Amino acid sequence: MEKETKKQAKTTTKKSACASKTATKTPAKRTCKKTVKSEKKHVLFVASEAWPFAGTGGLGEVIGSLPRALNEREKIEARVILPLYDSVATEYREKMTFITSITVPVAWRNQYCGLFELVHDGVTFYFVDNEFYFKRSGLYGYGDDGERFAFLSRAVLELLPSLNWKVDVLHCHDWHTALVPIYYKLYYQYNEGLGGIKTVFTIHNIEYQGQFSSDVIEDLFGISKREYMSIEYHGCINLMKGAIDYADSVSTVSNSYAGEIMDSEYAHGLEGVLIKNSYKLKGILNGIDIKVYDPSTNPALFANFDKTTVDTLKKENKMGLQKMLNLPVNGDVPMIAMITRLVNHKGLDIVRSAFNDIIKNDVQFVVLGTGDPDHENFFRHMQNVYGDKVRSIIAFNKDMAQKIYASADIFLMPSKSEPCGLSQMMALRYGTIPVVRACGGLKDSIFDCGNGDEGNGFVFSDYNKDALLNAVNRAVGLCRDYRDKWADLRQRAMDSDYSWNSSAQKYELYYEEIIN
Ligand code: GLC
Repeated sequence: MEKETKKQAKTTTKKSACASKTATKTPAKRTCKKTVKSEKKHVLFVASEAWPFAGTGGLGEVIGSLPRALNEREKIEARVILPLYDSVATEYREKMTFITSITVPVAWRNQYCGLFELVHDGVTFYFVDNEFYFKRSGLYGYGDDGERFAFLSRAVLELLPSLNWKVDVLHCHDWHTALVPIYYKLYYQYNEGLGGIKTVFTIHNIEYQGQFSSDVIEDLFGISKREYMSIEYHGCINLMKGAIDYADSVSTVSNSYAGEIMDSEYAHGLEGVLIKNSYKLKGILNGIDIKVYDPSTNPALFANFDKTTVDTLKKENKMGLQKMLNLPVNGDVPMIAMITRLVNHKGLDIVRSAFNDIIKNDVQFVVLGTGDPDHENFFRHMQNVYGDKVRSIIAFNKDMAQKIYASADIFLMPSKSEPCGLSQMMALRYGTIPVVRACGGLKDSIFDCGNGDEGNGFVFSDYNKDALLNAVNRAVGLCRDYRDKWADLRQRAMDSDYSWNSSAQKYELYYEEIIN
């Protein structure tokens, strides 16, 4: 491969990447298997992240689990293609197989592109290798992110003939892959062997649209000015807008969010584009991987529990966490938790205004997350002020997250907008009762318990401090004073089924509709 790399380097105009050091270097023997006629439809997920290889949040969780859920049901074969980031662990690189290397056009540039393959938990993952673009710390946040993901999108389409696997649906996720449906319709649909592929674009968060100055349309994206209209929006390039127009179908991650993004309150300016395209817009709620998020087996917990042992063993977890965090040890004090990115749309302004009033209750409050420095500092300060009640762990720590889900009584998620949200589903699984604002996927998964006899959580509608405080106080009151009702509520929470199974079934029907 190194030889090939050198050869490629001659043709590249920028510093071309050599293939990754640790991955297997011998090309796989591509035996010409006769293509077995199968009824299964082939869906290639194109995304910028997938657990356990690379991830920063919900998108990575979904791409790391939905394809497996689809494959287990056996009607669809889903595979995934993503960048080979520097952060992909050696344990995975060592097991990868090198498939091929090609040259990919990125406007006037010709860039090296390696392709590696790894079958993990029943799913084939393809990794796109170019060290110039992806051998960097972290996944995003570089000045040339536009070029990096234009490369990825172009590479995916250029690599299709090398996969030895006919793709029926290209399922692209968020702005990083928005150029795939655009390039496909502009430049690839009439290429030999590539006709008839359907494109789906899923919006995981409409806030991040991939906006760039219109000057770079030819230089970076290689799209001629004649076609500018397709990706122009309000004088800028807007890749998400282009994908919404070009994809055969657009989906998002909850039914409520599908409605909300046609409303200016939630759409970050794209409501008109979505209203125009509403005929092809669909909402399907995400699920979670119930094997990973299983309180009866998860090794991070102080004590594993299930529905029958939750009453006693949740307390043990709580006391273990209190000891670990140096909080007063008391199994009975209601513990409120937030595990979140510390960014505005997670509802942090109303949490901050309500905070002193929340803490007036006899409760403990544990927050885990990173984000805007201003929010991080607020929580650090709250820990200083309320040292015997508040712990602020300003970190991204999956192990700690599991401990907190298992220990807390109440899970606070008062988002201003929430396309789906996975944390509330994880909380339910651990018998931790969500307090949420009725929006997006929170509205579709959490149902108010009234006076404690129904539903699986506490829901408030108005986005303000008083509504939030009222919901938190209802939760704290029920938890503290009505132990039996709380125990029943907890059983109902743990019974809520947000495994991937029902969502995967909906995706199957969705793909079927699109293909036919
Ligand atoms: C984004 C959304 C979140 C959703 C996740 C997965 O992170 O903000 O609500 O659950 O994507 O779709």
